Amino acid sequence: MSSGAPGPSGSHLPNHIAIIMDGNGRWAKARHLPRIMGHRAGVAAVRATVRASAKLGIKYLTLFGFSSENWKRPQTEINDLMGLLRLYIQSDLNELHHNGVKIRIIGAKTRLEGDILKLIDEVHATTKGNSNLKLTIAFNYGGQDEIIDAVRFLAQEAADGKLRPQDITREMLAAHLTTADMPDPDLVIRTSGEQRLSNFLIWQTAYSEFVFMDTLWPDFSELQLTEAIRQYQLRDRRFGGRNQSAGT
Ligand code: IPE
Ligand code: IPE
Ligand code: MG
Repeated sequence: MSSGAPGPSGSHLPNHIAIIMDGNGRWAKARHLPRIMGHRAGVAAVRATVRASAKLGIKYLTLFGFSSENWKRPQTEINDLMGLLRLYIQSDLNELHHNGVKIRIIGAKTRLEGDILKLIDEVHATTKGNSNLKLTIAFNYGGQDEIIDAVRFLAQEAADGKLRPQDITREMLAAHLTTADMPDPDLVIRTSGEQRLSNFLIWQTAYSEFVFMDTLWPDFSELQLTEAIRQYQLRDRRFGGRNQSAGT
């Protein structure tokens, strides 16, 4: 690259990008539109971001679509969000599968309608053999609940005499999270100016780099993704250690 600035492609691309897609409501409000229109525009941003990630060669992309706390919203908005998951899967599954995208939906199965559960099974079955971009959608997902489930499993093993509590390791706990088969996120992006995790991947982001952007999610596309990656590439990840040039 002639400018010498680090580009979004090439060396040290983040292997795993996780995104907290926030700001659909404010996007709609700014246009005097109902919130559902913001969520619909958000689905278009999902489509653009998935395409851009595949194009850039990102291996893992995880999107936060519905949190375990989003049940606190009015029922009409919850219905809209459920409807959009259906719509996205139904309209995009063919293209995603054709492009070799492997899709996983993580989160609690409780409270989801039967037809959504069926769709989730269909998505997993259809794309399980794919190996290009690994797209994970966190839907009805909460990081604290996910950790509790893993702890319960290990506690049961201990109660059954199969495991000694003192032998429990980080790796064992991580192996019982729904993200067990993927690397931790290198880069977490949150749109809309909020600077918090909102219970997203709280275990897995212990050493992630964070990029917070004022852009509202419906306005997010390849340009913003590229900018976030550029910021990531300027970071010095030390993982508690020291880098080569830190001196004596
Ligand atoms: C993000 O947009 C989508 C979900 C949380 C499902 P919001 O609906 O949270 O939008 P704001 O934060 O109210 O603008
Ligand atoms: C986080 O956004 C959840 C998703 C993006 C799906 P929220 O809008 O629900 O988060 P808070 O309530 O502002 O923390
Ligand atoms: Mg929000």
